[in-house]
Amino acid sequence: MNPLVLDPTLKTESPIIVALDYNDEKAVMNLVAKLSPDLCKLKVGKELFTTGGPELVKKLVVSGYKVFLDLKFHDIPNTVYKACKAASNLGVWMLNVHASGGQKMMEMAKTGIVEAEHQPLLIAVTTLTSMTQEDLTQTGITTAINTHITNLAQLAYNSGLDGVVCSANEVGHIKEHTSPQFLTVCPGIRLTQEITDDQQRIMTPLLAIQNNADYLVIGRPITQAADPYITLTEILFSLNRFLFDSTTFKA
Ligand code: C5P
Repeated sequence: MNPLVLDPTLKTESPIIVALDYNDEKAVMNLVAKLSPDLCKLKVGKELFTTGGPELVKKLVVSGYKVFLDLKFHDIPNTVYKACKAASNLGVWMLNVHASGGQKMMEMAKTGIVEAEHQPLLIAVTTLTSMTQEDLTQTGITTAINTHITNLAQLAYNSGLDGVVCSANEVGHIKEHTSPQFLTVCPGIRLTQEITDDQQRIMTPLLAIQNNADYLVIGRPITQAADPYITLTEILFSLNRFLFDSTTFKA
């Protein structure tokens, strides 16, 4: 009998991005030392970047981690072009911009990446998950929020971006209106439905992956766990079992 070979489309790299929501480099390096680049990627947001700066980002990259620099650029096209080029040169794996900056801005963001020494993935934020329909209307946008999110995702896709940040509930709809390959990066992940913190629309890691989410952004459930390493490996184990069970094997 021929040996069974895993379907090559199986996701073998870890889909977990740990959100480093700290303002203290020491705490970050402490946590990072307990984790491993084989098990997760890292997200550096505005707070940590403002405190630790590009040097900290480079340090994480040199440690072997894939880093998502979550600075959500939103400015005139030329400024975003230069910012994306500078950020790419830090060696990060993923960058993001606001889709509401428009097609010209997103295309220039992409150009900045193409011209840089390293080419990270470029994704867009459609509508902040903190925004309600009422908040959107206050900004002068009267379109239904879900339609607005889909429109912005399509604009990001047409601008040549690699994907969007979205809720795991929106993955199917977004991929349907763009492409199955258009990446979906999903925050709002909780290990049980009971603990939500300040997230509104939450989903477990397994359900999010079953919904075809490509990457899961997880902060507090891992960073505030008694043992972050054990929690991370437990999550991966639950996902691997799902991926394994649902995989088509070839003879
Ligand atoms: O601790 P928690 O798992 O809620 O962290 C989620 C992370 O994802 C935070 O860094 C948060 O800023 C980020 N995020 C989010 N919702 C978005 C975009 C980013 O929660 N729409």
